[in-house]
Amino acid sequence: MRHLIQPEDLSNQEFMDLIETASHILAHPELYKERAKGKILASLFFEPSTRTKFSFDAAMLRLGGEVIGFSDSQSTSSQKGESLADTIRIMSGFADIIAMRHPLEGASLLASKTSRVPVINGGDGGHQHPTQALTDLFTIYHYKKKLSGHKIALIGDLRYGRTVHSLIKTLARFKVDSFYLVSPEELSMPRHILDWMQANYPDIHIYVLHDMEPALRDCDILYMTRIQKERFFNEADYLKLKNSYLLDAEKMQLAKKDAILMHPLPRVNEISIDLDNDPRSVYFEQAAMGMYIRMALILKLLEECDD
Ligand code: CP
Repeated sequence: MRHLIQPEDLSNQEFMDLIETASHILAHPELYKERAKGKILASLFFEPSTRTKFSFDAAMLRLGGEVIGFSDSQSTSSQKGESLADTIRIMSGFADIIAMRHPLEGASLLASKTSRVPVINGGDGGHQHPTQALTDLFTIYHYKKKLSGHKIALIGDLRYGRTVHSLIKTLARFKVDSFYLVSPEELSMPRHILDWMQANYPDIHIYVLHDMEPALRDCDILYMTRIQKERFFNEADYLKLKNSYLLDAEKMQLAKKDAILMHPLPRVNEISIDLDNDPRSVYFEQAAMGMYIRMALILKLLEECDD
């Protein structure tokens, strides 16, 4: 049985097929409104979420399916000491597919071992967020009409930000030109990911920077991220770094006219609201596109189960 725990679980062809299906759903939603009729999504969120949880829920409802689950594990028997493995074993008897988020790295992989239905990782600690990578690739393809050849700036918390961990490893597979990795020293991209890039994609240029201006001038895709307060061990370290990168209309004048500005959201103050109406800002559209690519993913995994 197929699960989606990390982006490597999907081939390049499958990424492109999902983007094609999501584009078709976006253009013709009425053709899909009963495609998951009779199926149930278990939406199990042990950590807060707005976009991921509710876009999964909306995706299943728009496919004609139904949703059970929680966004506060305090209301479940995990509070009585039930293990994650047992919770998943039980929930997979009630549902046809599971989307989950958990604060611990590896939780979705563990869940997949006891589940009788496909498990989709909606974020595990600071590790991976594969459906955000799907959302991001769909957004880039939608606006740029290709995935290859781009110069991409990843800006902010590259240490704890799971979205950028999934995104860099996924975009690397599509022959991008370069990554500008902009972060404070303390929040730099983990060494193991840089080593993986060097070993697998030595032709992709990697620029490690602390100043975002060169990235703003050069890049086709500007991907801002939030400093992940919840992953810090003490408040003082967070307060020191929280305003490291603030992008506003004045700084955005440096960027290319045809660049796109993305953010997985939520933003705190990394992107000023004076950029919300800039035609290059696509972060709200990006969040909306997450629902369509998750519809495509749910259909794919359910159809594979039925085969
Ligand atoms: N992008 C994202 O994962 O947002 P949520 O935390 O609101 O799900």
